[in-house]
Amino acid sequence: MDPITKQILKEEKRKSFIQELFVQAGEIEAQPKGKERDLQILRIGMIAELDAVNLYDRLAQLASSPQVTKLMKDVAQEEKVHAGEFETLMERIDPTYEEAEKEGEKEVDELL
Ligand SMILES: [Fe+2]
Repeated sequence: MDPITKQILKEEKRKSFIQELFVQAGEIEAQPKGKERDLQILRIGMIAELDAVNLYDRLAQLASSPQVTKLMKDVAQEEKVHAGEFETLMERIDPTYEEAEKEGEKEVDELL
């Protein structure tokens, strides 16, 4: 096992990431339907998509064949699109997300 994976597993004392997201998703059921519930659903989906990007990027690095590497990189890119879909809908439901994004861009521009 490579050192990075070994380190990740060593630090992994909690439930798996996906298990934790399923727990969070289960807790949503207790909330009333509406904007806040949908935003929470989108945030959980976005976390899962960004985690999937990390996973497929890592698998691409580990793959032996160019075909598997290429497929993993392609799927990682698709996961970014899924994250973008969630982000877009979050911004439409709650404009404060887009405001925060613009503020973040401004702060990065000032810093870098
Ligand atoms: Fe996805």
